[in-house]
Amino acid sequence: MDNKNDQSSTLLVHGGQLNEVAQRYQIPLEQWLDLSTGISPISYPIPTIPAIIWQQLPQPNQAMLTAAKKYYGTENISVTSGSQAVIARLPALYLNHINQPSKCLEVWLPEVGYKEHERAWHDAGFTIKHYQHLPTRAVLSPNAIVVVINPNNPTGELQQQQTLTTLLTTLESLSGWLIVDEAFMDVITPSQSLIHLTLNKHLFVLRSIGKFFGLAGIRIGFVSAHPAWINKLQKLSSPWEVNGPAQFITEQALKDKVWQLAQQQQLIALSIKLEALLVKTFLHHHDKSAVPNITITGCGLFKTLVHPQATELYQKFCYQGLYVRLCDEKNALRFGIPDQEKYQILASLLAEHSHS
Ligand SMILES: Cc1ncc(COP(=O)(O)O)c(C=O)c1O
Repeated sequence: MDNKNDQSSTLLVHGGQLNEVAQRYQIPLEQWLDLSTGISPISYPIPTIPAIIWQQLPQPNQAMLTAAKKYYGTENISVTSGSQAVIARLPALYLNHINQPSKCLEVWLPEVGYKEHERAWHDAGFTIKHYQHLPTRAVLSPNAIVVVINPNNPTGELQQQQTLTTLLTTLESLSGWLIVDEAFMDVITPSQSLIHLTLNKHLFVLRSIGKFFGLAGIRIGFVSAHPAWINKLQKLSSPWEVNGPAQFITEQALKDKVWQLAQQQQLIALSIKLEALLVKTFLHHHDKSAVPNITITGCGLFKTLVHPQATELYQKFCYQGLYVRLCDEKNALRFGIPDQEKYQILASLLAEHSHS
């Protein structure tokens, strides 16, 4: 069993815990530049929410669901309290409905990637296998489960639709599952989503409202899968899981095509600007020759700097009041996208790190 990183019951760090970091470095909260998450710096404006929605127990919001079906282009979709809630539930769904002991079952996970997937499957007793490149038929056992984060967080690696469709066919023939976490897919053009294929019983697609819409606090996500799985997942959830105000805001956000297009364009422009700043700061000597062993990857919602001195840089940044995400492997720093104002602060903080 390949189990180098034991994720069981550890509290995973994902960025965003600014209170704790501010305390550790003894810098007041308001003096920090927080770029530790992959959440958009521009968020969907919160509409006025009717009082009744705050007062009532949450009910399934059909208008919101219709908007989600249109936005995601599928009928097979269900709302959840963040895609995280589905990640935590998929092992139980598998164990309740597939007649196989978990120990014999392999779950293939990206070696680098959002570690909550690994924690969920590991804690449920499944055998964890890591891949650097997508596993091929030659290495997959019957009933294998493959998790793909597309685009990957934090590497930004993007799998093409065609590649994943082929993997899905392989897993179908092995009676396995393909789980595609598309939390960051909204910024990818043209989209490489597999969500239109979820009538296939071997596919699950996860989507998040938190990242692209900049609304991580309202805890809404979606799962798309065959209706039989959607029904079973709903039975695993508890009543009133997704609150009414969150559903109301999401309905407006999913319908607002004009805002979505502007958001796409702004995030792409801001992420290109961030990448150029990171290239200028870390990737080239002043004589323009390339610096070895340093790469910059990512997508429209974050940029990741792979750097041999990532840990040292992280410390230095923290002493400056700049909070980025030190990746789990300690070999990279993920920068969230700064808006115009934060970009200026970042540029001046990074000025002293430029190569001479
Ligand atoms: C790849 C990935 N998937 C899923 C999630 C969970 O997001 P949410 O529960 O806000 O939808 C995250 C959060 O950072 C993530 O990075």
